[in-house]
Amino acid sequence: MTKYQIRGGNPLHGEIEISGAKNAAVAIIPAALMVEGVCRIENVPQISDVTLILQILRELGANVRMVNRSTMDVDCSHIMNRRVPYDLARRIRASYYLVGALLGRFGWAEVPLPGGCDLGGRPVDQHIKGFVTMGAEVEVRNGLICARVPDGRLSGGQIYLDMVSVGATMNIMLAGTLAHGMTVIENAAKEPHIVDLANFLNSMGANIMGAGTDVIKIRGVDHLRGGTYSIIPDQIEAGTYMTAVASAGGEVLIRNVIPKHLDCISAKLIEMGVDIEEHDDAVLVRRYGPLNRVNVKTMPYPGFPTDMQPQIAAVLCQARGTSVLTEGVWENRYRYVDEFRRMGAHIQVDGKVAVIEGTRFLTGAPLHACDLRAGAAMVVAGLSAQGVTIIDGIHHIERGYEMLVEKLAAVGADIRIINTPDEDSQSQVG
Ligand code: UD1
Repeated sequence: MTKYQIRGGNPLHGEIEISGAKNAAVAIIPAALMVEGVCRIENVPQISDVTLILQILRELGANVRMVNRSTMDVDCSHIMNRRVPYDLARRIRASYYLVGALLGRFGWAEVPLPGGCDLGGRPVDQHIKGFVTMGAEVEVRNGLICARVPDGRLSGGQIYLDMVSVGATMNIMLAGTLAHGMTVIENAAKEPHIVDLANFLNSMGANIMGAGTDVIKIRGVDHLRGGTYSIIPDQIEAGTYMTAVASAGGEVLIRNVIPKHLDCISAKLIEMGVDIEEHDDAVLVRRYGPLNRVNVKTMPYPGFPTDMQPQIAAVLCQARGTSVLTEGVWENRYRYVDEFRRMGAHIQVDGKVAVIEGTRFLTGAPLHACDLRAGAAMVVAGLSAQGVTIIDGIHHIERGYEMLVEKLAAVGADIRIINTPDEDSQSQVG
């Protein structure tokens, strides 16, 4: 079994380069399905969610060619198959974007219900409402989303989202791109990756206006053509390393970021006593003194991101005083709390609220990464803990972080990958 071993206590010094945004990449790659021609996509992160989505595209008949480590050519001119393989799709949340893309291009899609992190209920009713408003017949049966348009092409429509949903906004945007007429999404999500998907589609010939505001208008076009596009830097990866510096102390220049996307995270860290200096495409993060308590509530962008909630909790565990953390997006995002308690953290959870009483130091412990961001938060906590932290379940972390161990080791963290005998096979032998 592969695990991370962290010996806490080293302050971090140096530079970390941020990779392309996971949540943009996992939407932009399926969007390439709608393009007749070659899409050259740059700044693609090398993470397992991207590997999976590329594997699905290949199964459908796409031609994918790596140009270099982070650049690829995707050619979906000759898609043969519109049935997405069950085993691949159920392992990733973003497989739902294949419905919007296939339905938009071919008027027909069969995609397994998505997987991804277990954060409580993850319904897709708003996605389906959008497709139905645009003239599709959608049925969920045998674990599949089966969607078809009787006359072969979706028609634009007006869709008001009942809640701000990133996935539904992007999926309806995909479906509307090749639809007949105008699609309007109201109460749309505004995350940076929504703007990035719109920019990608527009650079291939789409006509999308208003991405980044809460009303998005999509005037359908007949075709998308090939082109070149570079994915934005990952806001959450950058935020995670910012919390790593806050936790371990030290001074790190985090490069290849869009500082504006980090404002919501920087604001809270500054309130906690962390020093943050914005450059054009970098932020310098310094923490030498003690950390102050703060209250944090997660919200859709530009609010504090829910995908940074476990990482900020790791830092608040070490702040002076009591902080209140409120989860404003997901039903159940505190499954990691028991693991933090093993490190000596004092956290009480009541529904969506966690009350964190800061302690002077955490202690290393064996931990289980129960999902992607919780796993990243365990790394953040382990960097400052006294003693050794061993984290298993790291496949969750590798879904979203490219070379996490190498990037942290390069700034002085004592972190490495270790292999231990598989406990299941041991117990079977025993
Ligand atoms: C995306 C991100 C995830 C992030 C989340 C919120 C990807 C691949 N994942 O997930 O990392 O935590 O945005 O920023 O980009 N909801 C419904 N019905 C729907 C859709 C959503 O009730 O049809 C609810 C969800 O249960 C949740 C809230 O709306 O409570 C927000 O979900 P949404 O923004 O759709 O999250 P995802 O797109 O799945």
